[in-house]
Amino acid sequence: MCGIVGYIGNRNSLPIIIDGLKHLEYRGYDSAGVSIINSDKKIYSFKKAGKVSIMDDAIDKDFYTGSIGIGHTRWATHGVPNDINAHPHFDMYDNIVIVHNGIIENYKYIKTRLIEEKYTFITDTDTEVLANLINYYFRKTKNFEKAVRMALIEVEGTYGIACLCAEEPDKIIVARKGSPLMLGIGNGETIVSSDASAIINHTKNVVYLEDGDMAVLTKQGFFLKSVEDKDIFRNTEVLDFLIDEIEKGGFDHFMLKEICDQPETIQNTYRGRINFETGVVKLGGLEHVMDKLINAKRFIITACGTAWHAGLVAEYMIEQFCGIPVEVEYASEFRYRRPIIRTDDVMISISQSGETADTLAAIREAKKFGATTIGVVNVIGSTIAREVDAGTYIHAGPEIGVASTKAFTSQLMSLALITLMIAGEKKTLPDKTLIEIAQELKNIPEKIKHMIDMREEYKKVAEVFKDTKNFLYLGRGYNFPVALEGALKLKEISYIHAEGYPAAEMKHGPIALIDEYMPVVFIAPKDRTYEKIISNIEEVKARKGRIIVVASDDDEQISSYADHILRVPTTLPIFAPILNVIPLQFLSYYIAAARGCNVDQPRNLAKSVTVE
Ligand code: AGP
Repeated sequence: MCGIVGYIGNRNSLPIIIDGLKHLEYRGYDSAGVSIINSDKKIYSFKKAGKVSIMDDAIDKDFYTGSIGIGHTRWATHGVPNDINAHPHFDMYDNIVIVHNGIIENYKYIKTRLIEEKYTFITDTDTEVLANLINYYFRKTKNFEKAVRMALIEVEGTYGIACLCAEEPDKIIVARKGSPLMLGIGNGETIVSSDASAIINHTKNVVYLEDGDMAVLTKQGFFLKSVEDKDIFRNTEVLDFLIDEIEKGGFDHFMLKEICDQPETIQNTYRGRINFETGVVKLGGLEHVMDKLINAKRFIITACGTAWHAGLVAEYMIEQFCGIPVEVEYASEFRYRRPIIRTDDVMISISQSGETADTLAAIREAKKFGATTIGVVNVIGSTIAREVDAGTYIHAGPEIGVASTKAFTSQLMSLALITLMIAGEKKTLPDKTLIEIAQELKNIPEKIKHMIDMREEYKKVAEVFKDTKNFLYLGRGYNFPVALEGALKLKEISYIHAEGYPAAEMKHGPIALIDEYMPVVFIAPKDRTYEKIISNIEEVKARKGRIIVVASDDDEQISSYADHILRVPTTLPIFAPILNVIPLQFLSYYIAAARGCNVDQPRNLAKSVTVE
């Protein structure tokens, strides 16, 4: 997601816009830019890759002195982060300039049409397409407001926009559909922003725009209409947040916000990539290596930490559904053990940041031996994303909490999509199974939301165990990596020692740890290993272990074994890790919060380990 700020009034707009962008940097920070209408009624733009402070330090503040302007801090979705792709974007005639937050899904179709109308483009962004589409209609109507309206009616996808017009340099036009936008109503001035953190220092009177709303801002005030040109009315609200609360969306920590964002981020991961009627998956970034993927003799998955846990889940999925051998490697180990790598190997590297040194080194090692490398990455234009032969972005948005949550579930969803795409191409899955999986995929966001709505139940369990010294996490099959991930979440934010094991491994040593002080978390949905894990639970119960079970919401017999139950909706095994990790994310979060730990920035940890 990106951050948008605009100002129109009687003050110098630049400092207000830059200060606002700095408050919005938690939304995205790979490049930033402004467009200001100076007293000569001309639009002047300045934009730089990197954080807002880089643009702030470089811009000539004595030149950009106009009282109307728009600004943007970017989280790239189309086009790598660089000066050219930074917003604002002009149309080819330098008449319309726009900042945009969202994804225009039909931008390629619109771009093709505009190219036929002799339009040219200088960036890879969907936003530049919108700027040219608005100008296309401006040239027909000679009316800025009408041109914006006509362009937006054609757009499919999501947008929050603010735009200026060189031929009508006395107004800002804003509109929203699927990306937040609001107006701060000041004394003779109006500020538009993606959220209140850029407004609250200037006014507490705000108007929240709704999807389909459009507003024309002038120095005399603003007027609201729908994109379809219908009159609308919106109440003026009074803000009573603190800035810090706004950036966290009212949650106590970014980690809790990101856990609760997962219904939306999972949708962003699969949006536009799967046909729910046929089960056919299309991942544009992998199409040119499809033959390598379906003819691979082996997949080598390399990653670190949480991303490595996602890789373990992918091993089960790919071997089961595609019939291709998979090995999962800690990147740090792989790069130094002189591995055997062949040219018909495919390396899948998973990395939220796209900057993890060990994972990057493993990719370079594989490339040296001619293997095909693909990336499953969150940060667009990151080093790993640029160095692999192909890849797919997980579209989880910026993850601020050091403990990875929404990125993990989006990694799992991306890996499931890759699995389904290969299985579809290799015909290793019957069509009806592909369709059944695609139909269930649609239900996943709602099932996650169900657990978010019942998070107080998980919190009650967490409060029982907040002073515990050790934990064991046990799971079988797809849920063994979930056990590892649950243990990692707990130890990295609460500093409680926790270990994950395959449940059947208990008898090979760890069961010696069981006594009345040892809580054991079993991930035990009603799947084909359920009876086996019940016997593991009985072994622990017989030794007075304290039993916490992640159990299906329709499991009625589990209460005779468990001391505490964390309920999850049922789903297909391929999606079980995505659902079963959610209560463990909440469990670790609430234990750490109850212990007063620094949940978003735990001691000793960095969000991205860019050194060995
Ligand atoms: C996860 O909660 C940790 N923050 C850490 O294990 C992380 O997953 C690991 O460092 C890999 O980072 P990456 O996904 O950015 O490569």
